[in-house]
Amino acid sequence: MNASDPSLDPSAYQGLRPVQFSADARKLRLLDQRALPGETRWLELDRLEDIAEAIETLAVRGAPAIGCAAALGLAVLAEGFADARDAFAADFEAAAARLAATRPTAVNLFVAITEQRDALAAAQVRGGDASSWRATLRTRAQAHVDVDLGACLRMGAKGAGLLPAGGVLTHCNTGALATSGHGTALGVIRSAWARGTALHVFVDETRPLLQGSRLTAWELVEEGVPCSLICDDMAGALMARGEIQAAIVGADRIAANGDTANKIGTYTVAVLCKHHGIPFYVAAPWTTVDLSLSSGAQIPIEERGADEVRMHGGALRAPATVPVRNPAFDVTPAGLITKIITERGVFAPGELGEV
Ligand code: MRU
Repeated sequence: MNASDPSLDPSAYQGLRPVQFSADARKLRLLDQRALPGETRWLELDRLEDIAEAIETLAVRGAPAIGCAAALGLAVLAEGFADARDAFAADFEAAAARLAATRPTAVNLFVAITEQRDALAAAQVRGGDASSWRATLRTRAQAHVDVDLGACLRMGAKGAGLLPAGGVLTHCNTGALATSGHGTALGVIRSAWARGTALHVFVDETRPLLQGSRLTAWELVEEGVPCSLICDDMAGALMARGEIQAAIVGADRIAANGDTANKIGTYTVAVLCKHHGIPFYVAAPWTTVDLSLSSGAQIPIEERGADEVRMHGGALRAPATVPVRNPAFDVTPAGLITKIITERGVFAPGELGEV
């Protein structure tokens, strides 16, 4: 990988940026992922409840994108914080607590909030006034987004050579939509395709919320990357027929031992890969690695509403009162993961704690 490669320069990146400041940096601008693929609709938000609800309802989703939304969101909300030093800090903490309560699994959310808290504390120690603290939060937020984009581009370059020609299965959406741009697992796929690897992406639907069919298929079709949409339960049959040569997924949180939480169904894909002798890769920025947790058993798993499972395409597909389980994520044990691809390098799962 050449450090001066223009494709690794975030300022040269021409692709989709789904999480950004508005032109005057007073609003959080989000591509509303609930409306895709039917409609390309942008939201401009500057109220705490609206930003929190956008995260909870998956208008913005994907671990890195949630972190970016929180970082930019806190900067936008600071416009309304009280001017006095202690009151400003108290308003910050109230907003941070509401955002932290939106989604528990993706650690990037908490990383972004902590970065903003630390930046504010340092700025207040230096002195200044409310306008300088607001400027600090804006600068730190933009840096979080820029670092994420740089990480995705570098991850793509480091991981691209691992993907063989042929069928590559991916799960959920890990593309530009799930990050500040380019993507994690889908970024690796994008980078491999750009360097000429003759791959064909198998996109699973990712029930219940269809991030695969609605979002990943949309990104790949927009870019002309060869792909086929499959139902989640078709992956095993295609592996048995020799149509899938590798699987690559993203992550919401990776524990120190390499156990990886990602969208529900990831574990199933990993088990299928093990059975068929197919490499199973995880791609994630370093902000997704949580070295404070020794194993995946400690990762909090979000449970979402029952109607996400009972309903499909806006219609009830089950008895309205049937009890439901809806864990949004599962944990893939490190032993099922071939390599973890990050912007810092490609690691065996057990090596993360030593990086
Ligand atoms: O519930 P979501 O759509 O936020 O879940 C997203 C995932 O599980 C992604 O695979 C993960 O965040 C990695 S995104 C680069």
